Amino acid sequence: MTLTPPSDQTVLGLETSCDETAAAVVRLDADGRAEVLSSVVGSQIAAHAPFGGVVPEIAARAHVESIEAIAEAALVQAGLGYGDLTGVAATAGPGLVGGVMVGLSFGKAVALARGLPLVAVNHLEGHAVSARLGADIPYPFLLLLVSGGHCQLLSVEGVGACRRLGSTIDDAAGEAFDKIAKALGLPYPGGPALERLAEGGDASAYVLPRMLLGRKDCDFSFSGLKTAAARLAEGATTEGRRRDLAAAVQAAIAGQLAEKTARAMDLYAREHAGAGGLRFVVAGGVAANGAVRAELEAVARSRGFGFAAPPLAYCTDNAAMIALAGAERLALGLSDPLDAVARPRWPLDAAAAAAAPTHKAGRKGAKA
Ligand code: KG4
Ligand code: ZN
Repeated sequence: MTLTPPSDQTVLGLETSCDETAAAVVRLDADGRAEVLSSVVGSQIAAHAPFGGVVPEIAARAHVESIEAIAEAALVQAGLGYGDLTGVAATAGPGLVGGVMVGLSFGKAVALARGLPLVAVNHLEGHAVSARLGADIPYPFLLLLVSGGHCQLLSVEGVGACRRLGSTIDDAAGEAFDKIAKALGLPYPGGPALERLAEGGDASAYVLPRMLLGRKDCDFSFSGLKTAAARLAEGATTEGRRRDLAAAVQAAIAGQLAEKTARAMDLYAREHAGAGGLRFVVAGGVAANGAVRAELEAVARSRGFGFAAPPLAYCTDNAAMIALAGAERLALGLSDPLDAVARPRWPLDAAAAAAAPTHKAGRKGAKA
C-alpha cells in the first residue's frame, strides 16, 4: 500500500464480481459525509435467466461488453469527467474471478491513464459500508452481512478492521432463498420472487427444521432447511400451499438470522460496554427482504441497539458502496499498486478465517 495525503474524495467505483456491471461516483467530504453523485447498475438477469443461475463465462463476457459505457454513464449522470476524479475504486474480489478481472483491469487503465490512485476493494467491505450511503453511521457497529454468496456476523471497528463473530457453515441465506425459490418454480433471482409469493401466505402451515439449535455460537446453517423445503415444494401443488410454504421458508430464514444476531449482540454489547451507543447494521441482498428487516429491527430494539440498513438500491450489488469503501481508504491515505490481483476468495477477516476454518480449509472463507 502507498500513502497519499487525506482530503475530500470524488471516486469512481466499479463493481463486476457477479452478475451486475455497475459504476458510480461518490463524494466523501472531509467530515466523512458521503454523497452518491451517480449510481448505474446494468443487470445481466435476462442473459442468465434461461439457465436458472449465474453462468460465469456469460457474466465475464457481458462485463467486458458493457463496463466502459456504464462507467461513462456514471460520469455523465454525475456531471463530471475523468479529470474531476481523485481516485478509482474497483472490486478486486471475492467473486467470479473472470468478472472481477474485467472491472479491476478497467479501473487500473483509468488510474494509469489519468494518474489517479487505485483502490482494490474487497466486495464485502463495500457491503459493510453500504448503510453509510444513506445515513451517518459512525464506527464501531455490529454487522450482519447477508447476501447470495455470504452470511456472516462481524464486529466492524473501523475502515478495514473487522472481526468475525459467526458465519455460515454451509449455504448463504440468499443461496437458500434462491434454491428454494427454484424448487417452487420461481424465476431467478429467487429471493425477491419468493418474498412476493409469501405475501398473504400462512407461515404456520408448514413445520420446517430449526438448525443448530443446541449450539451456543453465532454460526448459521441453511442446507437442512433447503433440502426439507425442496422436498415439500414437490407436494405444494396449489397456489395457496405454495404461498404458505414460501411464507414458512421466509419466516424460518428470518428467524434463524434474528436468533444468531441476538446472540452476537449479547457478545458485542459485553465487548463494547461503555463505548457509546450500540449500533447494528444489516447489509447485502437479503437485507432487501421486508420480513428479514422487520425481525432484525425488533431484535435490535429489544437489546438496545440502533438499527440501520442501506437504502434498498444499495442492498443488492452496486458500485456506490465500492466507491465509498475506496473513498474511505483514500481519505486515510491508503491506495493499492497497479499490479493488485483479482481474488476469487478474500475473507474480510482473513486472520479469523485462517485460524478457524469450519470444515475444510477455506470453506468458511468463501461463503462467510
Ligand atoms: O448482495 P447481492 O446482490 O449479491 C451477493 O453479493 O451475493 O445479493 C443477492 C442475493 C440473492 O441471493 C437474492 O436472491 C437475494 O440477495 N435477495 C433477496 C431479496 N432481494 C435480493 N432475498 C430475499 N428477499 C429479497 N427481497
Ligand atoms: Zn454482494
